[in-house]
Order: sequence, then structure tokens, then C-alpha cells
Amino acid sequence: MIIGVPKEIATDERRVALIPEGVKALKKLGVDVLIETGAGSAAGFLDDAYVEEEARIAASAAEVFGAADLVLKVQPPGGDEVEALREGTSLISLLKPLDLLDLAKQLAGRNVNAFSLEMMPRITRAQSMDVLSSQSTIAGYRAVLMAAMALPRVFPMMVTAAGTLRPGKAFIIGAGVAGLQALGSAKRLGAITSAYDTRVAVREQVQSVGAKFIELDLDTGDSEDSGGYAKAETEEFYIKQREELAKQVAQADVVITTALVPGREAPLLITADAVRAMRPGSVIVDLAAEKGGNCELTEPDKDIVVDGVTIIGNTNLPALVPAHASQMFSKNVVTFLEHLLDEGKLVIDLEDEITSGTLVTHGGSVIHEMIKSRIEG
Ligand code: NAI
Repeated sequence: MIIGVPKEIATDERRVALIPEGVKALKKLGVDVLIETGAGSAAGFLDDAYVEEEARIAASAAEVFGAADLVLKVQPPGGDEVEALREGTSLISLLKPLDLLDLAKQLAGRNVNAFSLEMMPRITRAQSMDVLSSQSTIAGYRAVLMAAMALPRVFPMMVTAAGTLRPGKAFIIGAGVAGLQALGSAKRLGAITSAYDTRVAVREQVQSVGAKFIELDLDTGDSEDSGGYAKAETEEFYIKQREELAKQVAQADVVITTALVPGREAPLLITADAVRAMRPGSVIVDLAAEKGGNCELTEPDKDIVVDGVTIIGNTNLPALVPAHASQMFSKNVVTFLEHLLDEGKLVIDLEDEITSGTLVTHGGSVIHEMIKSRIEG
């Protein structure tokens, strides 16, 4: 069996799905690995390092797609990539399956077994295969650095001969994977940190990274689904939440928003009025920018300034830390393959929770229930 890794073609994508260390692990599973030349170079992994682990180097993407039985990618296939996948082969990648419904149909049409890494169940057994978590960890860290760079103040308190500088206040909305990492990173830089989340279950985790858990005067009752993700709330809830959050946002120098409900547009949490009530020089990093943003004014992939407040809407922060982001992505994917492969062959066991949870297309059809029901409307 040949596992192929093409160079990512999406604009500004610098990650690679498999690093040389991952090749070594896959060879142990009894498979061959074919990497497109230069696939890892933007992340600092040169062809030679892959060859050292006995991967073969392909001169072009066409050569990879032409030979691979299973293709590993970071970004959903685009351009000619869907057509290039051979019929009956497999694909493991991010697929944005709840948004890119046509892509799922096209992959089914190619009779490809397409596994969506986004759909990895958030269960303990699959934690080491969960790329959303690993990449969110990087995003949370990087968001803090971006905020620190954009802020016209320092984060830590400084008592100097030239006077005392007060510490910056970082407020994180959504204390999931990205949010908790942001809290830890901001604390290490010296900021005073606080966080809010509708899932009160995260209170202790917030406190364990030295932050204050902010409670709003709202009934959050049963806000967690069986998968550990947040549930969607009512519109009334969100209206009240925006009012309450505005008070917290007004006091912060930096706000990092990460609120997400899977498969939906991001909830609107910071209105234009709330932004205008912030001190000039404050910074918002909106990690939900790709899904419409948690802030009303966010523009995806732009940094904008409104009444002195900078709003950063970068949609691919992990690509800005490509070496470590790729290292984690690769480790997740290799662990997933260790689960899927038996004696060097892909085994599709639909009774298995991890396989059935991630497999979007199989046997020429879209088989994932959630995605199928979205396609059928
Ligand atoms: P997660 O599911 O671990 O955390 C999201 C948190 O938001 C949960 O704790 C949830 O309870 C909370 N939440 C949901 N609705 C809320 C509300 N109305 N008010 C307050 N909290 C609310 O997700 P993760 O992995 O931490 O990702 C967070 C966000 O960051 C996602 O939107 C993800 O797409 C995005 N992301 C963005 C990247 C970028 O480059 N811009 C990179 C990686 C992730």
C-alpha cells in the first residue's frame, strides 16, 4: 500500500500532513510513503529528511495522486485534486464537511473513501487523533502573540524608574482547547487573565491556568451536548449574553474569542457598539472569523481598526506556526492510521466508532448520517 502526501495548494497554507518522523512510524506499519517534492519545505521539513526515513520523493502532485492508495492532506482538496484522486482510493484530510457539501458529493462520485478529520469523535480513545484540538492549541497560543504585537501596551506589570506600567487584561470568550491555551499563554506573558464560557464545567480548568472564571447573570443550564461541545442557545439568550459581555469587554485590553457551536455560524457575542465602548488601542482576535466571527465587525483574513480598536480575523493561525502545527497534525494522522491499518492494509470497519464517525464517503455514496441529512436538506 502506498500512502501519498501532496504539497498543499491552498493560499498561505504552510503545513504538511506528514513529517519525516511520521514516515518512520508508517514504515513500521508496513506501508510505503510517497511525498511530493517540497511538500514539507515551508514547514522546515526538506526532501532529504523524508528520504532519510525511506520515503520516496515524487516530482509532481500528479505522480503522488497517480500512485497513492491513500492520500494524506491538511486542507480539503481543491483545484484539480478531486479529479486527480483515483477511483477506489482513500483520503484522510480536513474536509469542512458541514460546509463543503458539494465536495462530499464529488468525493462520493469519485468512489473515494474520504475520512474527515473534523468529525473525529471527542472521546478519550480518539484524543490523540484529534487535529481540531492540536491545531486549536497552536491557534490559541498564536492568537495571544498577535494580540501582544498589536497592543500599544505591554502585558506584564513593570515597576521601573520611569514609573509603573499596569498589567494588560486579557479576556477570553470560550474556554475550549484554543481558549485554555490562550489563557495560559497570556498569563505567561504577564497579563491578568479571565474567561467566560457557557459550559460552567470548564470553570476549574480556567482557574487551573491562573485565570478568573467570569459568571454572567444568565441561565446556562444544560449547555453541553453529549460530545462535550457547546449546544446552540436561543436568540433571547444571545441578546442578553451580548449585553452582559459588553461590560467585560469594555474593561479588557485584549479579547480573544473562540466561541463555537459545531456545524453552525459562530454566535455573535461582541456587537459594534461593544467594540466602540472599548479603550482605544485595545485588540480583539476573533478565532471564529471563518465561521462569520464572534464579533460583528470582524472581516475574515483582515486586520481592521475601528475607533482605535484593532480586530484581527486571521482564519489560519496554525499555518503561521507550520513546524509544530505539522508535527502535531502528523502525529494525529499517524495515530489514526495505526487504528485503521491492519498488516499494511486499510480496514474499514463501520462498526467502529472512530471509523464510522469520520468516514464521509464510501462505496460511491455519502454515508455519514449528519452530512447526508444536510445534503438532503
Ligand atoms: P472548542 O469546542 O474546544 O471550544 C469552543 C468553546 O466555546 C467551548 O468551550 C464552548 O463551550 C464555547 N462556547 C460556545 N458558544 C459560546 C458562547 N455563546 N459563549 C461563550 N462560550 C461559548 O473549540 P476550539 O478547538 O477551542 O476552537 C475554538 C474556535 O477556534 C473554533 O471556532 C475554531 O474553528 C477556531 N479555530 C480558529 C483557528 C484560526 O486559525 N482562526 C484555528 C483553530 C481553531
